[in-house]
Amino acid sequence: MTSDVVLRDVVDNDLPIFFEFQLDPDANHMAAFTAKNPTDREAFTAHWEKILAAPTVIVRTIVTDGQVAGSVLSYVEDGRPEVSYWIGRAYWGRGIATRALAVFLAYANTERPIHARVARDNLRSIRVLEKCGFTVTGETRGFASARGEEIEELVMELAPDGGGDAR
Ligand SMILES: CC(C)(COP(=O)(O)OP(=O)(O)OC[C@H]1O[C@@H](n2cnc3c(N)ncnc32)[C@H](O)[C@@H]1OP(=O)(O)O)[C@@H](O)C(=O)NCCC(=O)NCCS
Repeated sequence: MTSDVVLRDVVDNDLPIFFEFQLDPDANHMAAFTAKNPTDREAFTAHWEKILAAPTVIVRTIVTDGQVAGSVLSYVEDGRPEVSYWIGRAYWGRGIATRALAVFLAYANTERPIHARVARDNLRSIRVLEKCGFTVTGETRGFASARGEEIEELVMELAPDGGGDAR
């Protein structure tokens, strides 16, 4: 089933919902490169205040059937734009991340190339990126706070002429 997906600006009332989403242990394991302590609400709030104030960050709340389902954002890392997203666990497997990223890339961040980094074993996220036209361009290793160790990470890129099934 593919759900209806709408992106809108983030409002303050979204933040407690995002906080709950990022507490999920399985989601943390998947995302891997997460907050050191997801239960630290002060750190979470400070992080989101920075995100919302940063001129180089574009962030949207993902809404499906009138419910907040997650967030999608782009930020600049080492001088190049990267995307990331987080979907609440109850909403997984409905095509929401794919639809949200496709919409985000079409109107919110049109800069190319655009990158993404993903734990090598985060197969769902890799699939989302592939469906949106990203391809693997490199591999690296990084410290994953959620796992307390260094893990393999894929670097993926949507090229200027990149397409995808989700477009
Ligand atoms: C990764 C995440 C964004 C996926 O969201 P989602 O809304 O469930 O994704 P979609 O439904 O759009 O697509 C998931 C795809 O993965 C596939 N999939 C599911 N489980 C899989 C598995 N174990 N192996 C391979 N593919 C899998 C689904 O079949 C689907 O592909 P399809 O449409 O070709 O069938 C979500 O699980 C999440 O937010 N996780 C925690 C945070 C995170 O990992 N963020 C990304 C950081 S890079």
